[in-house]
Amino acid sequence: MEYFFILGRNPFLSKAEIFLYLETRRIEFEEIFFERNFLTIRLKEEFNFNIQEFGGIIKLGKLKIFSKKQDFLEYLEKEEVVPSDKFSYSIIGNIDENIFISKFKKERKKAFIKRARNRILLQEGEEFFFSNADFEIFALKRNKFFLGLVEQTYDSKIDEFIDMRKPVRREEFSISPRLSKIMINLSGLKKGNILFDPFCGVGCILIESLLKNIPAIGFDIDKKAIEGAQKNLEWLSKNFDLNSNYKIERKNSFFLDNIDFDGIVTEAPLGDLIKRKLSNDEKKDFLFSFERKIVPFLKKFKEKKKENSRIIITFPAFENLSLNIKEILDLTGLSLLSFKEIKFPIIEKRKNQFVHRELAVLY
Ligand SMILES: C[S@@+](CC[C@H](N)C(=O)[O-])C[C@H]1O[C@@H](n2cnc3c(N)ncnc32)[C@H](O)[C@@H]1O
Repeated sequence: MEYFFILGRNPFLSKAEIFLYLETRRIEFEEIFFERNFLTIRLKEEFNFNIQEFGGIIKLGKLKIFSKKQDFLEYLEKEEVVPSDKFSYSIIGNIDENIFISKFKKERKKAFIKRARNRILLQEGEEFFFSNADFEIFALKRNKFFLGLVEQTYDSKIDEFIDMRKPVRREEFSISPRLSKIMINLSGLKKGNILFDPFCGVGCILIESLLKNIPAIGFDIDKKAIEGAQKNLEWLSKNFDLNSNYKIERKNSFFLDNIDFDGIVTEAPLGDLIKRKLSNDEKKDFLFSFERKIVPFLKKFKEKKKENSRIIITFPAFENLSLNIKEILDLTGLSLLSFKEIKFPIIEKRKNQFVHRELAVLY
């Protein structure tokens, strides 16, 4: 069974999310192709993807055909792509739309092309446009022809509701619901495992964990942050039907005594907020001082974690400078995960941000 995915603004990270999500569930698959923000994969058996479980997918569906040009044209001649008589549609990909215009004309269908007006700016600066037509046809010409119909589109209403309505927000530090979901999907944690966020702040990662039915523990040294997390999670429990429980404590995460967890997902503390561009020397100092602070924590986490369980952590990075990860690995005894051709860390950056993030999956 072949599936296609239209990925979000950071396609490499989204691809890693899908791959590790499948690996966690022991689902065998192989990549067919990956280009820009298009990914197609082949699974041995059918799998019911739920797009809402992912933070990095915009649209997904099954491929109807993936073939050479002649077979593709024969398929189009014979098969019905859109099961409707009157509809709007749009084409995602690089196939000449005239193929579909003439196909639908022949089938005497009232089909209207809807121009793609919704824009996503991909991390590396490319733009991706899509529309909200009745049917979206994924049609791509490479050395083969790919055709599929979009089956699911990510609905960000719940994310927006949580992000905007939770009682305590800390805009300067908070991580988005989508990035939190991605990080949890990288962690190998599933329903029933326990997630630990040692620097939980007001609890954005804990919220996504509980929504995935993964019980969560959060520590933070800051009294206000912990009070905020407490309010947010109480609010979440009232507004959503949660099956999982949580524990939040004001604690220094350097001292972890009797704590049992299956994986760490966290955003490392960066110190003071940076509100201007730094010189190269300042950037080096910043990274050096971050490394000095984080290494003792990582050593503790390694001591406490179960064998092979993962630590998903964000590190600071700049456009032209990043941490010496090899040194961090040497000092902590941790390893960086790689799976198929996915290699960490993966950069996550936004325009106008002075400090970017690097996402590391350690074990
Ligand atoms: C980048 S913020 C985390 C933001 C968080 N993801 C959120 O949703 O709000 C890092 C947090 O680490 C906390 N922190 C710093 N040092 C700590 C320590 N030794 N033990 C526990 N928490 C600590 C800070 O108080 C801060 O809230």
